[in-house]
Amino acid sequence: METTHRVVVDDARELGAIDDDAVDLVVTSPPYPMIEMWDDLFTELDPAIGDALEAGDGAAAFEAMHAQLDRVWDELERVLVDGGIVCLNVGDATRSVDGSFRVYPNHARVTESFESRGFDPLPDVLWRKPTNSAAKFMGSGTLPPNAYVTLEHEYILVFRKGSDRRSFEPRADRRYEAAYFWEERNTWFSDVWTDVKGELQELAYDDTDDLRERSAAYPLEIPYRLICMYSVYGDTVLDPFWGTGTTSLAAMCAGRDSVGYELEEAFLEVFDERVAAVPALSRSIGDARLERHREFVAQRREDGETLGYEATHYETPVMTKMEREIRLREVSSVTESADGYRLEHEPLAGE
Ligand SMILES: C[S@@+](CC[C@H](N)C(=O)[O-])C[C@H]1O[C@@H](n2cnc3c(N)ncnc32)[C@H](O)[C@@H]1O
Repeated sequence: METTHRVVVDDARELGAIDDDAVDLVVTSPPYPMIEMWDDLFTELDPAIGDALEAGDGAAAFEAMHAQLDRVWDELERVLVDGGIVCLNVGDATRSVDGSFRVYPNHARVTESFESRGFDPLPDVLWRKPTNSAAKFMGSGTLPPNAYVTLEHEYILVFRKGSDRRSFEPRADRRYEAAYFWEERNTWFSDVWTDVKGELQELAYDDTDDLRERSAAYPLEIPYRLICMYSVYGDTVLDPFWGTGTTSLAAMCAGRDSVGYELEEAFLEVFDERVAAVPALSRSIGDARLERHREFVAQRREDGETLGYEATHYETPVMTKMEREIRLREVSSVTESADGYRLEHEPLAGE
């Protein structure tokens, strides 16, 4: 199996290099409106944003920033297939503008925006990100009533284009081989994620550079899970706010095609190195998934429970009929070409 991956250095408000209905899944994290690190970028997209911030009009700045993101959402509506899914990681912002503190509810504004474009909102995931700072409590210490709750979560909003689900030919291999294990389903489809620790990230990034911080990269585990949850082999995954390319790395490891848009060319500089590490990374992710499954099987047997089916491609029992054809992939070779990367994938042996 072969996959292709390309990045376009351009403005995602016009996804001119992508045809209509060419994308099956979008996994992304935009710059968050009203988070200070993105003020300059938003002001470059629309100078009125800087004026609103300077004038102390937080509500106008919030709305104008979302108006820029709305233009990207218009494009997603065009390039996504009917029934295709958008997974959008966003956090709300807390901020004092002109001396007045409040929350700017990005997740609510983005949800309205997608709904008005004909997307159906689906149940979302609350991604809990513990902060260890002793000084995390804001407001007036321990005196009521003027202290504020600390935001320690972000959202993974999920939308489907239109009301009909994607359909597949009966017994389609690309769907059945992309199945996930029953116990993975129970974790991944839970509405609160507390277990994303960024372990895969350690493998995918050199933590000595500050690129991750500057780009607000998410852990590899986030797009990897979402891609496994909402796409099948042969699908194309788009990230219009590509950053350091975490979504593309996850798509490579998961055996899907990818395309990204990114304004900042500098973020692409170290991507080649990361892609070179993908064969080892994809193998270690696949091996870890099989290993965790075997631990689950052992625990279940210890608890005196049975598993009803045998997997076809691995020597292991599975819980459900739908998991029997599961077949993980590893990347066997990477070729760079003028328009991106071409990867060869082999079935993961899983010995
Ligand atoms: C939150 S970061 C994404 C980080 C990414 N998920 C990662 O793991 O590296 C948002 C990115 O969107 C890019 N960006 C913002 N507006 C854009 C636009 N209109 N077109 C293309 N890229 C844009 C920024 O340069 C930034 O790299």
